[in-house]
Amino acid sequence: MSIPSTARDGVNRVLRPFNVRVVRGQSDDPAIKPFLSARRTLAAARRAGLSLEDYIDNYSAAPGATAETVDALLRLADLGEHVERVCEIGPGSGRYSARVIAATHPDTYEIYETAGDWLPRLKALPNVVVQPADGHTLSATADKSVDLVHAHKVFVYLPLVVTVGYLDEMARVVRPKGVVAFDVVSENCLDDSTTSEWVSSGSTLYSMISRSWLVDRLAERQLSFLGSHFVPLSGGRTELLVFRRD
Ligand SMILES: C[S@@+](CC[C@H](N)C(=O)[O-])C[C@H]1O[C@@H](n2cnc3c(N)ncnc32)[C@H](O)[C@@H]1O
Repeated sequence: MSIPSTARDGVNRVLRPFNVRVVRGQSDDPAIKPFLSARRTLAAARRAGLSLEDYIDNYSAAPGATAETVDALLRLADLGEHVERVCEIGPGSGRYSARVIAATHPDTYEIYETAGDWLPRLKALPNVVVQPADGHTLSATADKSVDLVHAHKVFVYLPLVVTVGYLDEMARVVRPKGVVAFDVVSENCLDDSTTSEWVSSGSTLYSMISRSWLVDRLAERQLSFLGSHFVPLSGGRTELLVFRRD
């Protein structure tokens, strides 16, 4: 089994009101975290009469959160006229991918997704290239080759060393003047009441990472901080951090 059943049970307790469940992963690697079952989530969205984006926004965050986040990201990123290549880690349902593709029309949109059941849906998006996802690296992507590399609601779940490894990879693949964007649970997301609720719920779903430490570490890798935007998360919020490569 790829994830301890206690951890999966904890996630499913949080998700129970939404009538979806995480799937058992297909890997023993602790870096590869489970996500919603594609089949069950699509069926639940259909039953609710909602688009997949609206369905996921409604249960995990707030209505309109995906669109607001992409707008904030693109405003901060200011990618210019022609976007050649974008890379996304852990796109899942593709709710962010679809919006970024529609707004920027990249020639190529690379994805690294460890959950195979979402791939047929992702492959149907324009110009998507499915890269081999080993759960740790962007090994099929060349150095300094992408205009934007991003991840949403991925680093909130992954072990610290996996996140930091991915950040090093993002710094490697982004081209000069390109943009790196991702959200984390930073210290700015953890007020006293949120922290107390997490403690009393006993959920071990999310991990915190220091924003100032991240900004300093990425600055050493020629990534200058552009700004941030708060994003709703079930039971709290994340902070989307956006950087430009010098
Ligand atoms: C919480 S979901 C977020 C999905 C999507 N970005 C969104 O916000 O709707 C986390 C995603 O990351 C994927 N994932 C989990 N571990 C991963 C890893 N080590 N590398 C790449 N993707 C991973 C999961 O399969 C899932 O699609």
